[in-house]
Amino acid sequence: MLRLVQEITTVVERGPVGLTEVKQMEQLVALAVPRLQQTVLCSRPLQPGRYLCYQDKVHGFVIMVLAWGPGDATPIHDHGIWGVEAVLKHSLRVTNFDESETDPQPMSSMVISAGDVMHNLPPARDVHRVEHASGDCALSLHIYGKEMTNNRSFVPGVGFRVCQLACHDLCLADVCQPCGVATV
Ligand SMILES: [Fe+2]
Repeated sequence: MLRLVQEITTVVERGPVGLTEVKQMEQLVALAVPRLQQTVLCSRPLQPGRYLCYQDKVHGFVIMVLAWGPGDATPIHDHGIWGVEAVLKHSLRVTNFDESETDPQPMSSMVISAGDVMHNLPPARDVHRVEHASGDCALSLHIYGKEMTNNRSFVPGVGFRVCQLACHDLCLADVCQPCGVATV
């Protein structure tokens, strides 16, 4: 994870993040996934939830891990900030919606599995919903351009509203440990 932090920092510190930069980060994340899959991060089940692994004090980007149990799903939402996401373990279903503010309709849906990497980049709204698709504890890695303490989520009958997002801290030193190495 520390190597990935350094690599992402190298891309972000060049300046504003656009399509070239998010595609570079996608490649870096794709290369990092097999390394991360060999750590305790992927060998120990996490309670379902959002975990903050790293927040860059200079550039503001964050690295998060999300743990998904059967039945877990997000609301329909968008982010408003660039993001690069990867599945680390098992699989998730991502459904993309049109940009209706009052009645978003599904446009496409796909299952993404361990090793798959994707991105979102404003001004594209990237309205979507993510849900658990397989495994007792699916894991995904999310890099966002800023801390995601809230997002715009769709409330049926109401529309999109800013919703607060709960988050746990996850010790980087622990998740970087290779499998088989005891951690405190
Ligand atoms: Fe999302």
